[in-house]
Amino acid sequence: MGRRVRHHQHRPSQRTIGFLVVGIGLAGFLIASLITAQPGRDTVTTADPAQIADGRSLYVTYCASCHGLNLEGQPNWQQPLPNGMRPAPPHDASGHTWHHADALLFQITKYGGQSIASPGYVSGMPAFGNQLTDRQIWAILSYIKSTWPPEIREAQEAVNRQSP
Ligand code: HEC
Repeated sequence: MGRRVRHHQHRPSQRTIGFLVVGIGLAGFLIASLITAQPGRDTVTTADPAQIADGRSLYVTYCASCHGLNLEGQPNWQQPLPNGMRPAPPHDASGHTWHHADALLFQITKYGGQSIASPGYVSGMPAFGNQLTDRQIWAILSYIKSTWPPEIREAQEAVNRQSP
């Protein structure tokens, strides 16, 4: 008899533990999705200093060899090379990167210059989609934009507003 009573008391407490485990799991899942759903860093450029710092070090590793440590581009970047390809342009305010909307800059970086080239044109801009995550690409673009003076940022924002 006594044994049976103890057994009956045992079962609900196991169930309680089960609920607790599921509850904690759910809470963890909710918190994790709240953190990752934070708008900003994953899908857009921001003025967030942490994102810009990430972007700067990624830029040095992946982009500076062609676009220059100081975003100055390759020498004589406006002259096509003998093979018809174009040198890497600067990403600072002296270039034309700021003439393009964020979405286009993202596309060129992820899928390469070839993805927007007209037929017959060979672009020297590689695709980085298999080396960099989307988040990392947005961080690099944030860094590039952080170096532009206010009037250039404003001009590029106007391009952003016009792009679909
Ligand atoms: C191997 C050299 C090379 C590397 C490395 C490189 N690029 Fe480029 N990039 C180019 C060249 C060359 C062009 C010009 C392509 C053209 O005109 O067809 C270009 C063009 C671009 C453009 C278009 C710019 C504009 O003003 O129209 C963007 C944006 C760009 N690169 C971003 C990046 C980013 C971001 C990285 C690093 C993740 C990077 N590139 C790394 C060679 C490179």
